[in-house]
Amino acid sequence: MGIVEPLLLWYGKNKRDLPWRHNCTPYRVWVSEIMLQQTRVEAVKNYFVRFLQAAPDIPSLADLPEEKLLKLWEGLGYYSRVRNLQKAAKLLVSRYGGQMPASYAQLLELPGVGSYTAGAVASIAFGLPCPAVDGNVLRVWMRLTADGADIADPHTKRQTEAALRPLMPVGRCGDFTQALIELGALVCVPNATPKCAVCPLADFCKAHRQKEEQCYPVKKPK
Ligand code: ADE
Ligand code: SF4
Repeated sequence: MGIVEPLLLWYGKNKRDLPWRHNCTPYRVWVSEIMLQQTRVEAVKNYFVRFLQAAPDIPSLADLPEEKLLKLWEGLGYYSRVRNLQKAAKLLVSRYGGQMPASYAQLLELPGVGSYTAGAVASIAFGLPCPAVDGNVLRVWMRLTADGADIADPHTKRQTEAALRPLMPVGRCGDFTQALIELGALVCVPNATPKCAVCPLADFCKAHRQKEEQCYPVKKPK
C-alpha cells in the first residue's frame, strides 16, 4: 500500500476552503501559485480575489495599465513577480491566443514560471502527472523517506520530482499536488515537532518510524 490513497482521503476531509481551490482554471491556479510563493495563505486570500476582479482573464491582465497592476500588488512585495505575470500574459496573448498551454515544457518557458509553478498549473489545472515540489513538499518527502540530502542543493529537488512523478494518480493529479502542500502546511509543519500523531502517512514515514522526524530536512549552510 502506498501513500496516495491515505493522503487523498485525508485531503478530502481536511482541506481548507481557499478561493483558488474553486474553479481551478489555469489562469487562477497560476496567479495564486505566484502569489503564494513568497506570501502566507491568509494574506494571499484577499489579494487573490481583488486581483481576479481587476484582471479576470489573461487578455485583461496583459492590458492592465502599470499603475493599476502595481496597486493590486501593493503590500505583497517582490514586484518582479507581478511584472513577470504581465510579461507572460502578453506572451500568452501573442503566442497562444490568450490561453495557457497544457504542456509542462511550454509552461516552463514563461517568465517567472519555474518547475514548481509549471508543475502546479499542469497538475491542478490540467490534470497532468507533473509534480510540484516547493520547500514544503520537499520537507514532507525528506521526512517520509528519511533522506538526509541537502535541500539547498537543486539536485535534491530534481530527485524529489523524479521520485514523485510515478506516484501521480491518474485523474487526481491536482488533488495529489494540493494534498502534499496541505499536509506540509497543516501536519508535517516546518519546525522540530511535526504533528505525527494526526498524520495520515505516519505508518509510511521512515523518519517517524526511526523517531527522527526532527532530523529532517537537512539544510546545509552555504
Ligand atoms: N501554497 C502554495 N500553493 C498552495 C495551494 N495551492 N494551496 C495552499 N497553499 C499553497
Ligand atoms: Fe511528517 Fe510526521 Fe507525517 Fe512523517 S509522520 S510525514 S514526519 S507529520
